[in-house]
Parts: sequence; C-alpha cells; structure tokens
Amino acid sequence: MKPIQVGLLGAGTVGSGTFKVLLRNQEEIKRRAGRGIEITMVADLDQARAREVAGEGVKVVSDARAVIANPDIDIVIELIGGYGIARQLVLEAIAAGKHVVTANKALLAVHGTEIFAAAHAKGVMVAFEAAVAGGIPIIKALREGLTANSIQWLAGIINGTTNFILSEMRDKGLDFATVLKEAQRLGYAEADPTFDIEGIDAGHKVTLMSAIAFGIPVQFDKAHIEGITKLAAQDIKYAEQLGYRIKLLGITKRTAQGIELRVHPSLVPSKRLLANVEGAMNAVVVHGDAVGTTLYYGKGAGSEPTASAVIADLVDITRLHTADAAHRVPHLAFHPDAMSDLKVLPMAEVVTSYYLRLRVADQAGVLAKVTGLLATAGISIDAVLQREADEVGGEGSTQTDLIILTHDAREGTVNDVLAELQALPTVLQPIVRIRKEELS
Ligand code: HSE
Repeated sequence: MKPIQVGLLGAGTVGSGTFKVLLRNQEEIKRRAGRGIEITMVADLDQARAREVAGEGVKVVSDARAVIANPDIDIVIELIGGYGIARQLVLEAIAAGKHVVTANKALLAVHGTEIFAAAHAKGVMVAFEAAVAGGIPIIKALREGLTANSIQWLAGIINGTTNFILSEMRDKGLDFATVLKEAQRLGYAEADPTFDIEGIDAGHKVTLMSAIAFGIPVQFDKAHIEGITKLAAQDIKYAEQLGYRIKLLGITKRTAQGIELRVHPSLVPSKRLLANVEGAMNAVVVHGDAVGTTLYYGKGAGSEPTASAVIADLVDITRLHTADAAHRVPHLAFHPDAMSDLKVLPMAEVVTSYYLRLRVADQAGVLAKVTGLLATAGISIDAVLQREADEVGGEGSTQTDLIILTHDAREGTVNDVLAELQALPTVLQPIVRIRKEELS
C-alpha cells in the first residue's frame, strides 16, 4: 500500500525531530502502522530552514494553505503554535477533510470546543498527544489505558521551565530572578518566559487533561492559575525543613461539589516520587478508583521527545482513518453526546491544606493571637515552626518568621482569616500562603 501522505505546517524544532525520527525508524513505524508514513510537503515562512529540515524530495512552500489544498495530503501536522493563524489553519484543514495532529495546547485549551465540534461534524480526527507533557503518552493513558476507571484526581509537573527554575532555586538557595536569568542563558527559558513562569502553559495542559479525565468540555477560562514569580528562596528552605518540596503543579480533582482545576506552587511531601522530579523533566500522577495511583514520567519538551508523541498520533490516524468515525476513540475520551456538565469550582470553594509564613514581632502573645484566629475560623493546625529572631533578622532582631502548616480548609475561609491576620499590628509583612498537597 502506498504511504500515507502528511503535510507539515511549521518546520521548527519539533518538525525537524519528526522528520528525523520518521526517517530513522521508518521500517518499524511501517510495521506498526500497516503502511508507510511520509511527510511530502512542508510550509514555513522561512524557506531555507524548511528546506534544511525536509531534505530531498519534499515540497517546500511558504503558504500553509497550499498544503491544506493538496488533495494527496491526508494528515496535516500543525506546529505553528498560538491561537491566531494556527486556529484558522486547523479549522480550514478540518473543513478540507484532513486529519490534524497538533502540539498546540494553547489553541486546544482555549478553542478546543469549537475545534473538536468541527472535527466531529466532518468525521476527521484531531490528535494532540504532543500538546501535554511532550513525549509522555499521558493523553493515551488517560483516554484509553485508564478507561475502566472513575478518575479521582491527577496532579502533574507539566512545565519543564518552571521545574528547572524551582530545582535550581532549591539546590543553590538562589532567588527566582537570578535563576530565571541563568535559565534563559542556558536556553531552558525563553526570552519572553511569561507563559511558562506565570503558569499559563501548565494551565493549558491541565485543562486538556481535566477534560479527558472527567468528560467535561475544555474550559481554560475557569482554571485558577498562579505562577512561580513570587516564590522566595526562604520558603523553599522552610518547606524543606518541614519535609516538603515546592513544585508548580497542575491539579484537577473530582469532588462532590464539582471539579477543581488549578495551577499553583504546591508543597509536596519530599518522600513522594513527584517531589523528586528534578530539572526540566515532567511527571503526572493519576489516581483512578480501580487502578489506584499511577505515575508517568519523562521529557516534557524537546525535538525528538515531542516528535515521539507527534508520530504516535500519525500512527494512530494511519491505522484508523478508514474506520467508521463512530468507532474511533472520541477526542476527549467520552462521546460528545455523553459529556458531563460538572461545574468547575471557583477557587474559594476548593479545599486543600496550606503553608503560611508570617513575619511577626517577636513578643508575648503573638503566636497565641495568630493560632486563636485560625481556631475561631475552624482551621486546624498541623505543624508550627518558629525561627529564632537572630536567625531571621540578624543579631538583636525583634522580628521572626512563624511558619504554620494547616490541615484541610476551604480556600474562602482561609482568605478571610488571612485578611484578619494581615490587619494585626504584630504582622509586619505580607503573609505568604502556599498550598500543600499530600497526594496520598
Ligand atoms: N515551555 C514548555 C515547558 C514546553 O517548559 O515545559 C512546551 O509546552
């Protein structure tokens, strides 16, 4: 059978890896897919770059629409990124009856409902393994491998840039700004790192996983997102003294009240495998009612790791594209007419535990006042650590740090009590609040 023909939009790092891996492993890929898979056309505004990536015999164009218009192309890979032209081209490719493979988490997290509906109506597949955690086959695991389960929760380190920064801050005791500069110098962080450090990239990824885990629509606008820019080296150190590491987690949970969907720095017990995922690596823990807790670990970005996910999608489509559309795995794991309308909870309704750091005047009655207000609000204390004033503020200091770990509490209640604590004259600086996840 003649090879299936693929058109590539965007010949950057991942596109180049896709060419290399397809070529290197072509025989095995063919044995798995049942026929060859060939990228026969590439579109990129940078023609020289595209020619170098594509090699001999591949048609290189600057106009992506020429790829979409080519009747010989069955699958379009979108590696342009962003919500702008990429959205338009993906919708046009679907309208032209092409299957689409994309690594574009931003596009699907924001416009997924529109894109999946268009693909469903046209009977084509939109595959996006590469959009979440790079080379880790987490979409496949959630959508197919764990299909027997009622998934209860998942939590992931799904942004390598921020995990690298946090690992460096902990290892070297450095502050955020210093490590960010170093990460940019080493190429781990982009010149404009906003999407990574503000948690937006992780928010896109957890939004997609949440939809697949619980059969809800993609709702990035409902996700609560906080990045790592305000984290202080001091809190990483105190957390360590209490037996925790701080990680940027994407978390989604099923509760009786609705779905939690959130990204923020979290204390994780040091003994958990997730706490020991270091550098730019990614990992996702998924808890299903039947299987229990499972862990997926690997490279979340990079040329060939991401190409590994792109090609897995190409193989899936090659195997299934002649099948009746109704017999394919649904885009979001659940059949479109069987999606749930479970609501995504506002952050104030989320229940979790907390690390609080208060810079206080080192005088009689301060600890009692603080714990008294927490008790009145019904917030139970798990552990308290108080540093010696000299250690915190130097010789003769009259200030100290009070670190409190709480048991589970409703975020709205915690917000109220933090406002009361902040108003105390003996609380001298803005209170630091970091959420804590036991992941047990
Ligand atoms: N910038 C992402 C990261 C990879 O640092 O993990 C692509 O989503």
